[in-house]
Order: sequence, then structure tokens, then C-alpha cells
Amino acid sequence: MNIKKTDIIWEIASKYPITVSVFLKHGIEFCCKWNISLEESSKRDNFNLDVVLEEINTLINFNNSEDIDLSSKSLIEISEYIKNNFHNPIRELLYPTEVLAKKVAMVHGSSHTELVKIKEIVEWLVPVLEMHFDKEGQILHPMLKELQESYDKSNDSLSLHCWSIKNPIRQMEFEHDNYGDMLLELRNLTNNYILPDGACRSYQALYANLQKLEEDLMRHTNLENFVLHPKAIEMENKLSWNNKCDF
Ligand SMILES: [Fe+2]
Ligand SMILES: [Fe+2]
Repeated sequence: MNIKKTDIIWEIASKYPITVSVFLKHGIEFCCKWNISLEESSKRDNFNLDVVLEEINTLINFNNSEDIDLSSKSLIEISEYIKNNFHNPIRELLYPTEVLAKKVAMVHGSSHTELVKIKEIVEWLVPVLEMHFDKEGQILHPMLKELQESYDKSNDSLSLHCWSIKNPIRQMEFEHDNYGDMLLELRNLTNNYILPDGACRSYQALYANLQKLEEDLMRHTNLENFVLHPKAIEMENKLSWNNKCDF
């Protein structure tokens, strides 16, 4: 599979979440609000189109990661993949990042005042993300499992449950937008994660962690918004049970 310069950016990012790292690295907007091709974006935002195309195609063609295209997997497999590759690793990143944010703000906050705001955002982000992953793991994923099993059996026996998958999905996507705004704010405050001269080891580690957090969260969001959720809604629409009790 080769990505072409005429391909639409958000479609590339949604089909191949792994490419988000390239878009972030080059400051390329990949949100679905912007329905533009790589070529159009390169003229507008002035990046080297050939370099970006090569990086994207290298990632897609040579990376062994399974998350390159999960669209053909079941809802259960995609949920499991998200839990193992995003929810669990991101959870592990949260505590050390919060510790670093507090430490660096305390030591350098007087000379770099943006560090205080960064610390506040990280303190907001940590419980928000933990709750978000809890809700997905404890509420959404079991519902997706039930939906997949019902679909596989081609029956509408779940009608008695009287729920629609669209409701938790709507809430999760609302939360994606909320923490997405905060990630953007972090990127602005850190000047695209460019370290100031003489930044200490903790400062460097904080920026590295935040950048990793952003990349993983954006890949996670794309995978859910553009692969998992649409697939679940399509599956539900094909069953009759949601029509009986949509609320
Ligand atoms: Fe998730
Ligand atoms: Fe999510």
C-alpha cells in the first residue's frame, strides 16, 4: 500500500493510526475538520512533501505493528488491542509524568512560567484519562463484546437490554475532544516540545513523556473514533434490537 500526495490526511490518519507520529512531528493538522490532501497541506503549511510521504510509506510498509490496519478485526479483538497497546501503557506513563511535571515546575517555574500551567494541565489530565479508560474498559468494551456476539449469532436477543452503543460512544468521543484540546494546549505551551537551552535531565524527561503521551493518545483516539466506533455503529444498525429502544 502506498500513500499518495493526493490522499486526504485525516483518512490516512484514521486508516493507519501509526502515521499520527509523522503528522505530529511535522506539525501537520490531521483532524477530520480539515478535508485536505497532503499536497494541499504542504503548500499551506510549508513542509517537505517528499520527506513526509517517504516517512509515512516507510512506517506503513515496514512496521510490523498490528495496529496498521485493524478494520477487518472483530470489535472484541480491537478492544483488546486498544487495552493492551494504549490503555495499559498510557496508564503507566501518567504517574511518572505527573511527578516530573511537579518537580520541574517547582525547580524551574520561576524562570519558565509556562511550566506551572503545564503542571496544572497534567494534574487535570491524569484523573480524566484514568476515568476515561475505566469507562471504556468497564462499560463500553463489555457492550461491544455483547454486540459482536449478538451480531455473530445474527440474532436480536439483546433487545431486552434496551441500550444503544451510540450513547457511550457519543460520551467517549466528547471526552476525546476535551483531552485533545488540552494536548493542543500542552503543545503550544512547550513550543512544539522544543527544550530551552540548558534544560536539565528532568526537564528533558518531562517533554519526552508529554510528547509520547500525545502521540499515543492521538493514535488511541483515531483508532476508536475512526475504526472501532463506526464499526460498532454499523453493526448495531444492521441488528434490529437497537431500534426498539433507542434512548
Ligand atoms: Fe480507549
Ligand atoms: Fe477513548
